Amino acid sequence: MASATKTAPAAKSDNKAPTVTLIDNATGKKIDLPVMDGSVGPKVIDIRKLYAETGYFTYDPGFTSTGSCQSAITYIDGDEGVLLHRGYAIEDLAEHSDFMEVCYLLLHGELPNPTQKSKFVHDITYHTMVHEQLQYLYRGFRRDAHPMAVMVGVVGALSAFYHDSTDINDPHQRMIASHRLIAKMPTIAAMAYKYSVGQPFVYPRNDLDYASNFLRMCFMVPCEEYKVSPVLAKAMDRIFILHADHEQNASTSTVRLAGSSGANPFACIAAGIASLWGPAHGGANEAVLNMLRAIGTKDRVPEYVKRAKNKDDSFRLMGFGHRVYKNYDPRAAVMRKTCHEVLEELGVKNEPLLDLAMELERIALEDDYFVSKKLYPNVDFYSGIILRAMNFPTSMFTVLFALARTVGWVAQWKEMIEDPSQKIGRPRQLYTGATKRAYVPTTKRK
Ligand code: ACO
Repeated sequence: MASATKTAPAAKSDNKAPTVTLIDNATGKKIDLPVMDGSVGPKVIDIRKLYAETGYFTYDPGFTSTGSCQSAITYIDGDEGVLLHRGYAIEDLAEHSDFMEVCYLLLHGELPNPTQKSKFVHDITYHTMVHEQLQYLYRGFRRDAHPMAVMVGVVGALSAFYHDSTDINDPHQRMIASHRLIAKMPTIAAMAYKYSVGQPFVYPRNDLDYASNFLRMCFMVPCEEYKVSPVLAKAMDRIFILHADHEQNASTSTVRLAGSSGANPFACIAAGIASLWGPAHGGANEAVLNMLRAIGTKDRVPEYVKRAKNKDDSFRLMGFGHRVYKNYDPRAAVMRKTCHEVLEELGVKNEPLLDLAMELERIALEDDYFVSKKLYPNVDFYSGIILRAMNFPTSMFTVLFALARTVGWVAQWKEMIEDPSQKIGRPRQLYTGATKRAYVPTTKRK
C-alpha cells in the first residue's frame, strides 16, 4: 500500500526541481514525483508517470484535488474570494469594462486597444444572424419545452449549418466558429424564449450593442416600438461579465473533455450547455427563485434553514455554497449591488423576494452550520431576482447563464486545442464489479 506523501525540500545545491516522494509501504519502493508551479495558487504534483512507474492510479471522484489541465485564462482563490480573468479582478471588469472587452480578454489574453475593440465588436455584430433554415428546427419542439432543452438541441445543430467552421485544425475556422458561437448565442436564446411564448422571432440589429440587442430580441413585438433602457442594458451586460468564465467548473470541463476527442466546437458547447443545466451548477439560479417562492414569507426562513442543516432531508439552500469559494463569492457581491440598481431603475420599491433573500442570507451567515462549513451566497443567489425583475421567466435564467458562459467555454476549448501537449481526456477507474466468470446459458440460469 502506498503511504502518505512527503514534500521533499528542493535541493538547492544541485538545482534539482522540487519533488514529492511517494513511498509504497508494501514494497518499500520510492518514487519522486515532480512538483509544478503555476504563476500563483497551489503547486501541483505531476502524476503523469505514476501508473507507468508504480502500477497505481489515483482516486479522486469529483476532482476535488485534481488539476485537469494548464490554463492561463482564469484564476480563483476560493479562500480569499478572488476571481481574476487574465490577471484582472472581476470587480474591476464589472465596474469599468464591458462584455465585449471581457470576451476579447478571455479569448486573446489582453484587453483590446480601441482599434482591436472596434474590429472585434464588428466581427461579433456581423455574425449575429442565424441561418434562416434554423427557425424550422425550433418549430419541431413542443412550445412548452424547457428552453435549455431547446438550447442543447439548437446549439448542437449549428454544426449541421456551419460546416465551413468545423475543422478544428484550421486556426481561421476555429476563430470563425468562436465568433459565431459568441455572436449567435443571444439570437438563439432569444428565439428559444420567443418560441416558448408564441411570439414571432425578432431579428438582430447591427446598430445595437450586444446586451441591448439581446433584450430587444427578447422583448420587442412587431406591433409596437421597443426602447431598450440603458440601465437595464448595462445590468444585463454586467450579468454577462459576471458569468463569462470560471476556470475548470463542470460545464467547462465537459466542453474540454468533449473537445479532447477532436469533436467540433458547436457539439462541444452543446455538451457544456447540457452540463450547465443541472441544479448543482447553472440551474441553481432557477432553483433559488423556486426556493424563495416556496419559503414565501420571512417567518418561514428559520424552518428552511433548519431543513438545510438536516442530514436526513435532501433540501439544500440553493445559491449557497461553492466547490471552490470558501468565502463570499466576489460575483455575488457585485450581483447584490446590481440587483438594487435594477430594482431602483424599474421603480420597484418593495420586492418581497429580495427582502426574503436578504433575510435568508442574514440568518444563514450567522448560523454555526453555514459558518463552520464556509457556505456563502454564490453568484446565483441574487441573479434570479434581477432577471425576474427584468421580466425573464424563471426557465430562461440558466439560458442566460449559458449565453454568457459561451465565451469562457470557447476560450478554454481554444486554449486546449492550441496546447501541443493536449491529448484525449480518458480517466481510469477503481473497478468494483464482478471478476471474470463463466457464461451461463439462459436455460441454466436460476
Ligand atoms: N445547503 C446546505 N448544506 C450545504 C449546502 C447548501 N447549499 N452546500 C453544501 N452543504 C453542506 C453539505 O451537506 C456538506 O456537508 P457535510 O460535510 O456535513 O456532508 C458540506 O456542506 C460540503 O458540501 P459538498 O456537497 O460536499 O460540497 P461540494 O463542493 O461538492 O458542492 C455545491 C458544492 C454543489 C455548489 C453545493 O454547495 C450545493 O449543492 N449548493 C447549492 C446549489 C448551488 O447553489 N449551486 C450553484 C453553484 S455556483 C455555480 O455553479 C454557478
